[in-house]
Amino acid sequence: MSFKLNPIEVKPVSTKYRTIKTKLPVPESIPLFEEMGKYESRSMHGQYPIIWDSASGCVVADPYGNRWIDFTSTIFVANAGHGHPEIIKAIKEQLEKPLLHTYAFCNRPRVELAKKLVKMTPKQFEKAYLVSAGTEATETALKLMRLYGRQKDPKRVGVISFTGSMHGRTMGAEFLKGVPSSSEWIGHDDPNIHHLQIPYPWTVKNFKDADWERKFEEDINSLIAKKVDIKKICGFMVESYIGWSAYFFPKAYIQALAKFAKMNDILLTFDEIQSGFGRTGKLFAFEHYGVDADMVCMGKGMSSSLPLAGVLGPKKVMDIPGVGSMSSTHSSNPLSSAAGLANLNIIENENLVAESARKGKILHDRLGEIQKKYNSRLKYFFGNGLVAAILLFKPGTDEPDGAFATDVFERATHKGLLMVHTGRESIKIGPPLSIPDEALLEGLDVLEEAIAEAEKAAGNSN
Ligand SMILES: Cc1ncc(COP(=O)(O)O)c(C=O)c1O
Repeated sequence: MSFKLNPIEVKPVSTKYRTIKTKLPVPESIPLFEEMGKYESRSMHGQYPIIWDSASGCVVADPYGNRWIDFTSTIFVANAGHGHPEIIKAIKEQLEKPLLHTYAFCNRPRVELAKKLVKMTPKQFEKAYLVSAGTEATETALKLMRLYGRQKDPKRVGVISFTGSMHGRTMGAEFLKGVPSSSEWIGHDDPNIHHLQIPYPWTVKNFKDADWERKFEEDINSLIAKKVDIKKICGFMVESYIGWSAYFFPKAYIQALAKFAKMNDILLTFDEIQSGFGRTGKLFAFEHYGVDADMVCMGKGMSSSLPLAGVLGPKKVMDIPGVGSMSSTHSSNPLSSAAGLANLNIIENENLVAESARKGKILHDRLGEIQKKYNSRLKYFFGNGLVAAILLFKPGTDEPDGAFATDVFERATHKGLLMVHTGRESIKIGPPLSIPDEALLEGLDVLEEAIAEAEKAAGNSN
């Protein structure tokens, strides 16, 4: 959906972290949105019409004096906070060389970044492959898993993923997602990508750990029943939490999956593009499951700024492709690498992983309070650390209410709080990991106000 470009009167707001002083959208901003609509593909145009002019820490500002508390981190990128001075310094130092682009030639920041990634992550990650976009990282992991399988058997190229998970927008990533509306443009299926259903809590009743283990076995057996040959499977691709809902798989389910993968020499890759680098209160979200990953895909919060993504894995996999058979023109360019390296140092020096876990408790406790008040609407909230999603339904029913979620989102935006609008029944929350506690709490108060007002407008005041 697209938001309307009709400015409306909204209540002025003035706090330490928020300022709203104009109509929204800002009338003077409309011509720029009209030009954007005229000259750019509409596919990117679903966001609320705000011109992002500057951002610092957890606050985003437009050119008209309005400021928002940012619960988006620009779609989970700015983990270290917007415009972190150390990242700016690293980029400026690199620019003073002056601007340098190196393709696959060696540059110092690139080597230091790869080394830092290997040193700061679990020991099975021995080598990195660096690219620019998350979707390149998932394509790379798909290729590596298949190259690994083909070493044993040329037909061992089967990959198992979950229907409805997000892995990017390129062809392999869309195949992995397994949703016809996303991949029918390709014109054919990939017969070697198989899908399991995400075990959402509403699909089962009163499950215990042992039930989840059994559920995984049933799911695998259902693939076998469809003539999927497990001996031809080389990899699992798992989104560590499900993007639109911040839903984590049941731990016992992933443990059963990891055990099965190990027993059958199947590589287990977690897509950590959104969930990595402290977002969930662990360096990588897969660590919540108490399993070992063979590979991770990374992006977004890897640099908190410039385009940077990659894959980490063991030597035995990362070195399968021959020299020159995997490359990317802008891969680990010196500027992005310098930004990434500075970002990783900040994550360590500012203890952002532990901070995400600590602030995550504040976030989830407060969401629990809000849910108690609005439980006929807000049936679920999921997440860990500084990621959460609230799921909104028609009162007292199981019917998702995307329109209500949009109303809540829009009201919160008018009050100076930015969240992630998913276009469906969920609203996502992912502030920079450096957000001050008081700003986090202020933003959550705004969210509650927005829900209360939307509820009242819908004629169901609590
Ligand atoms: C889990 C996950 N994987 C992959 C991607 C694709 O990343 P990019 O947009 O950088 O290609 C995203 C982006 O939202 C994501 O959330």
